[in-house]
Amino acid sequence: MKRLVILISGRGSNMAAILDAVRAGTIAASVRAVISNRADAAGLATAASRGFATSVVDHGAYRDRESFEQALGRALDALSPDLIVLAGFMRVLSPGFVQSYAGRMMNIHPSLLPAYPRLHTHRQALADGVRIHGCTVHFVTADVDHGPVVAQGAVAVRTSDDEETLAARVLLVEHRILVDAVRWFCEDRLVIEAGRVRVMDELGNEHALIVPAVNRSQLDESVRREPRHQP
Ligand code: GRF
Repeated sequence: MKRLVILISGRGSNMAAILDAVRAGTIAASVRAVISNRADAAGLATAASRGFATSVVDHGAYRDRESFEQALGRALDALSPDLIVLAGFMRVLSPGFVQSYAGRMMNIHPSLLPAYPRLHTHRQALADGVRIHGCTVHFVTADVDHGPVVAQGAVAVRTSDDEETLAARVLLVEHRILVDAVRWFCEDRLVIEAGRVRVMDELGNEHALIVPAVNRSQLDESVRREPRHQP
């Protein structure tokens, strides 16, 4: 059984989605610990209330990034994780640190990468007037928010959306693609080839895109209308 460690910085709803899937047996893994870089992260209490081990490696307690990463690395290595999941972990990790966990560290990001890396993704999507937005699970590389894509989820942007409503809809899809991605990893279904991920599944990479039902029905409707446009 694969050993997981989940890193968080705040609310921890993506973490909770993984913990629930592990408890339900959807993901066959043992969660060795949830580690936060902030002692006040709400997700720590959520994890503890579900009976999972938690700890804090407070970045503020270290003089620089290097010493913080040394402490984080010691905490991680003591748990021998097969996979480290960055689930709302809000510290940028240095290339050397990331390299030592290559192929063993995943991140959830609230945009359809490579669009909108870094912060304020929903604000940028609204400002650009894009019609489609979403989220991505990817393996972590030295290039922040640019590693090999495991799964993506798409969300239609509504005229009435503001940052909050759009973020809320994207978050629901984040939970789904993150659980899928972690499950595939635990089932040894992910192969990284030339910087791209292949999902070893009966449907191949088709499972690695989620379009929520509301959008799917819009698509189905346009398909149903199509014959009328044909000569
Ligand atoms: C998520 O939107 C995640 O993609 C981003 O920060 C948010 C964290 O939410 N990196 P939560 O802590 O998982 O609830």
